[in-house]
Amino acid sequence: MCGIVGYIGNREAYPILMKGLQRLEYRGYDSAGVAMINAAGAMNVFKKKGKVSDLADFAKGQDITGNIGIGHTRWATHGEPNDVNSHPHYSQSGDLVMIHNGIIENYAAIKEGLTKRGHTFQSQTDTEVLIHLIEDIKKSENMKTGHAVLVALNQIIGAYALVVLDKNDPNTLIAAKKGSPMVIGIGEDEFFIASDASPIVEYTKNVVYLNDEQVAIIRRGEEVKLRTIKDKEIPLYVQELEMELEAIEKGGYEHFMLKEIYEQPRSVKDSMRGRLNAEKGIVQLGGIVDHIAKFKNAKRIIIIACGTSWHAGLVAEYLFEEYARIPVEVEYASEFRYRNPIIYPDDIVIAISQSGETADTLAAIELAKSKGATIIGVCNVVGSSIPRASHAGSYTHAGPEIGVASTKAFTAQVVVLTLMALQVAKEKGTMAESKFRQLLYELESIPTKIEDVLKQNDLIKHIADIYKNAENALYLGRGFTFPVALEGALKLKEISYIHAEGYPAAEMKHGPIALIDEAMPVFVIATKGPNYEKVVSNIQEVKARKGKIIAVVTSGDKDVKGMADHVIEIPETDESLVPLIAVVPLQLLSYHVAVMRGCNVDQPRNLAKSVTVE
Ligand code: M6R
Repeated sequence: MCGIVGYIGNREAYPILMKGLQRLEYRGYDSAGVAMINAAGAMNVFKKKGKVSDLADFAKGQDITGNIGIGHTRWATHGEPNDVNSHPHYSQSGDLVMIHNGIIENYAAIKEGLTKRGHTFQSQTDTEVLIHLIEDIKKSENMKTGHAVLVALNQIIGAYALVVLDKNDPNTLIAAKKGSPMVIGIGEDEFFIASDASPIVEYTKNVVYLNDEQVAIIRRGEEVKLRTIKDKEIPLYVQELEMELEAIEKGGYEHFMLKEIYEQPRSVKDSMRGRLNAEKGIVQLGGIVDHIAKFKNAKRIIIIACGTSWHAGLVAEYLFEEYARIPVEVEYASEFRYRNPIIYPDDIVIAISQSGETADTLAAIELAKSKGATIIGVCNVVGSSIPRASHAGSYTHAGPEIGVASTKAFTAQVVVLTLMALQVAKEKGTMAESKFRQLLYELESIPTKIEDVLKQNDLIKHIADIYKNAENALYLGRGFTFPVALEGALKLKEISYIHAEGYPAAEMKHGPIALIDEAMPVFVIATKGPNYEKVVSNIQEVKARKGKIIAVVTSGDKDVKGMADHVIEIPETDESLVPLIAVVPLQLLSYHVAVMRGCNVDQPRNLAKSVTVE
């Protein structure tokens, strides 16, 4: 939630900030703003409700010069999205400005104290309160800005990634982080700051990831200085960025979401690379090797995640129970953290997250950790907070996912969780060698099978055109494909704003069947497997009530073809691997419906890519 970017060096800051904000726009897009100090020492701030492009229009023809500056793209928490609430925010004198990602929980009490001391506030934001506090400390304690930032951060409760710019010190940027991500890029006589590496990768591959409660003082011509908020010096650990520029560009596709759907044959392969060798009968996730005994002895696995990652967790429940015979509970991280869950020290907790920054998942990890459970992270963003908070884990190698709707991250998560379940099954001896081998070969063939599904894009687009004006939709699946039904429904609702629900097919008759009439499209995953006949009966129940059936079936299926309004054929595979293939046509379908309805596919309303607030 919210993207922040900063620059100090010899180039003009504004173009770098604006390009960075465009790359970070997936993190929040209700307003944007920049601040630069020009050669004469004047600080110019421009901020605007709307997209980064609205900010660019607004700033046209104004003084946007200067080789130091900060920029922000917002996802509103405190205060509605408008020009005043946009970042950067000013201190009382106007000499300091700040951009901030996160929430200051005790801002109201601080604001009250500052108001009594004569401060007046322009916005409704918590951010403005913090920059006022910093200036108040700076003035009353006669401190440098950097030191005042340290002192202020000891007084606040909450999460932050922030950058402060001081009009009277045009050679310094001050950055700090707790709970929200922040990366510093180190170039030749120049420095970059950003919420993730995407605004930095084009300029330098040398980066420093800030840890929680660390403050960076970035001065022109000097080495970056790191301190904790308790004023303890920290050595600088410079890492090499692995990201490539092409990975964060659209590469000829109209939208990131479409590009990411089409990347799945590659991202699935990348997530298996070096971990799976069917010929030799090997599955090995290096990240869990040291914990395999714990898996073997675990009486239970708890999976925590949110949204699409939670759906991947549901698939994993079926996988671990089927392959490794370990009971699994799949929990919404937000629910888990706020009840009083029973957690045993021999529990394995698998935390799944694309971004690695989801606030609820992080908090659930901390809770489980405090009870002694072993935390295994399955994340996509390297170096993000969740892998760092986990005892061990495996990255998904899907590459950067920019579209807010998660697509390739889901399939990569399911791949890694499948490998994990197979590795544990092998270790526990819960699966026959022949079945194990067969599954490894099947897994290796999944990228090609996804390619086959992608070839049906025209048919899927045609179906999307027929149902684009639907007001409701139902998605049904059974067994391994129930989570796919949930994911299909989530994809449709989040980007096209059509109300959609996912259900276990057999549950339909316990309520949702009342909704079915000729206007209701029902998407059914009816692939061959042990539940096939039962799902066919469910399809008949829908048809008897004049519902429209769009069925995802196994190649060559004849029975469902005879009764469905439309069928999308997918290649045959083992029942447990069907989610990896069956989800793809549903992703494409949602994409086309959303485009046809004129929706902003990559940046759906009210959403943000990483949800770093609870
Ligand atoms: O980064 P995470 O995987 O932890 O994010 C969890 C959810 O916010 C995310 O999956 C969300 O549901 C997506 N927009 C779904 O497409």
